[in-house]
Amino acid sequence: MSVIIELNNVSFSAQQGIVVNDISMMFKRNKTTAIVGPSGGGKSTVLKLAAGLLVPNNGNVYYEGKSISHMNRGENGDFRRNCSFVFQDSALWANMDLFSILELPLKIHFPSMTAKERKSRINAVTEKVGYKKKLTVRPAYLSMGEQKLIAFARALLCEPKLMFLDEWTESLDENAADRLINIVRSKQREGCTFLFISHDMRLIIDLADYVAVIIDGKVSAMAPKEEIISDLLLNDFIKIGIAS
Ligand SMILES: Nc1ncnc2c1ncn2[C@@H]1O[C@H](COP(=O)(O)OP(=O)(O)OP(=O)(O)O)[C@@H](O)[C@H]1O
Ligand SMILES: [Mg+2]
Repeated sequence: MSVIIELNNVSFSAQQGIVVNDISMMFKRNKTTAIVGPSGGGKSTVLKLAAGLLVPNNGNVYYEGKSISHMNRGENGDFRRNCSFVFQDSALWANMDLFSILELPLKIHFPSMTAKERKSRINAVTEKVGYKKKLTVRPAYLSMGEQKLIAFARALLCEPKLMFLDEWTESLDENAADRLINIVRSKQREGCTFLFISHDMRLIIDLADYVAVIIDGKVSAMAPKEEIISDLLLNDFIKIGIAS
C-alpha cells in the first residue's frame, strides 16, 4: 500500500514555544486517518504541516515521495490541485462574495474552464453540500455552520484525491453533518484519501481506518482504528476530549 503523505522528524515552533515536536507519521493512499487529541495539543498545526500550508522549522514533509518544500512550480501546482483543505475556522475570504470565493480555485487550477462551466460546477457543489441561499453575499452574512458548508463546497470543487478536514462537522446540525459524511463516504469509495480532525466519536468509528492521537505536539499513538479503540478505555477518550 503506497504512502501519500509522510512527515519525517517534523518540528514547528511559534512565539510561545514548540507546537509540534519532532514527529514522524505516514498516511496511506485511499485510507482515512482521524487525528484526535486535547485542545491546543497541535492537531491543526500537524494537519497544516501535512498539507504543506505551514513550513516546518525542522524535518520534511513528502507528498508521493517528493519533499513539498523542494517541489518545482509544476509539481507544486499538481499537488495543490489534487489536495483540498477545510479549515477549522472555514477561512473564507472576508472581502469577496461567496461565488467569487468558489470561482477562485477553478480559475487558478482550470484556467481553460469557461465562466458557464465554472457556474455549473459551483452550483453542483453547493447543491451537494446542501447550501441553498444566495451566493452574492459575503461570508460575514453567514452562520458558522453555513460558512462550513461553503468551505466544504470549496474543498470539493477541484475533485481532489486527498482531503484535509479540520473539525469539519463542528457547528452543523445533524442533517447537514450527515450530508457531508455521505459525501466523504462516496469519495472514500472513489479512492480519495482523508486526513481529518474531529472530537466526534461517531465520525471516527464510522469513517476512519486509522487513528492518530496527538498530545502536547507529539504523536502519542497511531494505529488501525480497532486497535486504538480497544486499547483506550472510553474514560481515556473522554479525558483527551474526543468523546461527545
Ligand atoms: N502560527 C502560530 N502562532 C502562534 N501560536 C500558534 C501557531 N499555531 C499554533 N499555535 C499554538 O500552538 C498550540 C496548538 O495549536 P493547534 O491549533 O494546532 O491545536 P489543536 O490541537 O488544533 O487545538 P483545538 O482542538 O483547540 O483546535 C496552541 O497553543 C496555539 O496557540
Ligand atoms: Mg484545531
